[in-house]
Amino acid sequence: MNVLITGTSTGLGNGLAQYYLKAGWQVYGISRKTSTDLEAHPQFHFLAHDLSSLEATADKLAAFVELVDTFDLVILNAGILNEIKDLHNTRLEEIKHVMDVNVWGNKVLIDVLTEQVNHLKQVVAISSGASVSGARGWNAYSLSKATLNMLINLYSKEFPETHFCALAPGLIDTGMQDYLYNLKEEEKFPVLKKLKKAKGTSQMPRSKEAARIVATAIEQVRSFESGSFQDVRKI
Ligand SMILES: NC(=O)c1ccc[n+]([C@@H]2O[C@H](COP(=O)([O-])OP(=O)(O)OC[C@H]3O[C@@H](n4cnc5c(N)ncnc54)[C@H](OP(=O)(O)O)[C@@H]3O)[C@@H](O)[C@H]2O)c1
Repeated sequence: MNVLITGTSTGLGNGLAQYYLKAGWQVYGISRKTSTDLEAHPQFHFLAHDLSSLEATADKLAAFVELVDTFDLVILNAGILNEIKDLHNTRLEEIKHVMDVNVWGNKVLIDVLTEQVNHLKQVVAISSGASVSGARGWNAYSLSKATLNMLINLYSKEFPETHFCALAPGLIDTGMQDYLYNLKEEEKFPVLKKLKKAKGTSQMPRSKEAARIVATAIEQVRSFESGSFQDVRKI
C-alpha cells in the first residue's frame, strides 16, 4: 500500500507517517525539513520541498512519484497558521502566502497526481473547524481552509474514481497550539479560552494519538459522499 503525506517533519503529518510505516505501508513524505526518525526507515521516501514554491512543485512532485502506479491514499496535511488578528489588520500579502501553502500547493499536487498516477484511490485534505466556524481572529487561515473544502468538493466531481474528503482533525497538541496557548487576547478572540482549557486534556491529544484518530476517520469517511467536509469529532 502506498500513501503520500505532506508535512511529515512535525505534528500530525509526522504522527501519520509513523502510523502508516508501522502498518507496513510505503510512505512518501514531503516537507521543508527532514525528520530523522522517519528518514531512517527503509519504507519512507522523502522530498524536501517548500510547497509555497508553486512553480517548482509540479516538476519536483512528478519526478518524486515517477515510479508509483497506485496511491491508495494521499493526505494533504501540510498547513500554516498565520498570526491571530482581525482580518482588517491582515495584509493581502500575508493572506496570499497562507493561501499558497494551504490551498494552491494542494491544487498543484492534485493536478500532478490525477494526471500522472494510474490509480489514485483516496485523497484526504486536512481542513479545520475554522473553515466553518468564522471565529474572530482566524483571518487568512479560516479563508484558506474554507477554500480548501470547496477545492476538494469541486475535484470530487471531476474525478469520480477517487474518493475526496476535507477532514477536520480536531484539536492536536502541536506547535500550532503552543503558539495559540501563549497569546493573551482572550477577550478579543474568545476561542483562545476554549483552546487553553483543552490543552493537556483528552480533547487535545498529542500527534501520535491524533494520528490514530485521524487514520480511523480516514477509513470511515469512505462511506460518506465524495467531496464532503467531515470533522473527526462528529463522525
Ligand atoms: N494542531 C491543531 O490543533 C490543528 C487543528 C485543526 C487543523 N489542523 C491542521 O492540521 C494540519 C497539521 O497541523 P499541525 O498542527 O501538525 O502543524 P505543525 O506541527 O506546524 O506541522 C505542519 C507541517 O506542515 C509542513 N509545512 C508547513 N509549511 C510548509 C511548506 N511551505 N512546504 C512544505 N511543508 C510545509 C511543516 O513542515 P516544514 O516546516 O518542515 O516544512 C510540518 O511538517 C494543518 O493542515 C493544520 O491546519 C491542526
